[in-house]
Amino acid sequence: MIKNKYMKDKLIKIKERVLQEIKEINLPEELEKLEKNYLGRKGEFTKLIKEVKDLAEEQRPIMGKFANEMKTELETAFSEIKKNISTGLDKTKDFVSNFDPTLQSRKKELGRLHPSTIIQNEVVEIFSSMGFSVLDGPELESEFYNFESLNIPKTHPARDMQDTFFVEKGEEYKDPYKFVMRTHTSNQQVRAIERLGAPLRAIFPGKCFRNEATDASHDNTFYQLEGLMIDKNISIANLVAVMNTLLSRVFGKEVKTRLRPGYFPFVEPGFELDFSCVICGGKGCSVCGDGWVELIPCGLVHPEVLKAGGLDPKEWSGFAFGMGLTRLVMMKYGIDDIRLLQSGDIRFTKQF
Ligand code: DAH
Repeated sequence: MIKNKYMKDKLIKIKERVLQEIKEINLPEELEKLEKNYLGRKGEFTKLIKEVKDLAEEQRPIMGKFANEMKTELETAFSEIKKNISTGLDKTKDFVSNFDPTLQSRKKELGRLHPSTIIQNEVVEIFSSMGFSVLDGPELESEFYNFESLNIPKTHPARDMQDTFFVEKGEEYKDPYKFVMRTHTSNQQVRAIERLGAPLRAIFPGKCFRNEATDASHDNTFYQLEGLMIDKNISIANLVAVMNTLLSRVFGKEVKTRLRPGYFPFVEPGFELDFSCVICGGKGCSVCGDGWVELIPCGLVHPEVLKAGGLDPKEWSGFAFGMGLTRLVMMKYGIDDIRLLQSGDIRFTKQF
């Protein structure tokens, strides 16, 4: 028993001494020497372990186990230090005294903003400065908000204007409406009226989905930026003023706009807003054709939409627009294939 206790103390003492000495080491040669002195064949620690066999029989397994644990601890300490010394840093010292602020750090690859995000941020900023709030909403949407609430009933031929991804819903849904991947950001119009009431100025940027065959100018996923302004006595003049401000600020110069009649069930009257091509200045070129670029379908909010949101059309009026954000991105950067935007190719996004 006495011998056992004596040995245990000694093992601990040696271990602590080694761990202390290890800290003072700077060179690999010194480390090697230290290891040999203790753990080598004739090393101090090794010798002590050999004495285990001289202990009383019942003490041997207990002490053997303990000695092995001590040994493993030391071996781990040595291999750690070896690893550190070989990386060139003196890891026998603690982190702070080891820290070399003059060392050059590894170059980090930084991500980039996607061009759609860049333009979206820009447009959001412009609308925010005009007092519009920015709202978000679901991409997986009920047919109600995507169609019905926008004056597009089930049997309406306008349903065919957009190729829709219908989504199977589970049996547990008792909702009479199907779910769709939203085909436009107009799905947010009635949601916003319900949430915020009137007067209202809000924009809704986001992804839209269409079941389209893809080519250079069509993709199944793209971005729109919808806007809605509701107040007393809103007229087409308000719509035009806001659109002109937007486009002049996006392109950094005055651009001319024009309205052509357009049909959308949720506006009356409805328009296509074109702007003068910024490449040729409106003279006509290969990008625009006749000098005008079609970009923003818009109109005055249909009374049925106001009603769907719980507003009285006699009291309130408004305008709405649904800008093709992806189209604007392509125009602004001269991107000639829409599929590049979703390609996930870093070489593409690095250019912006
Ligand atoms: N949601 C329509 C589409 O994606 C675009 C649109 C037209 C939005 C007229 C509007 C609008 O807000 O007033 O085809």
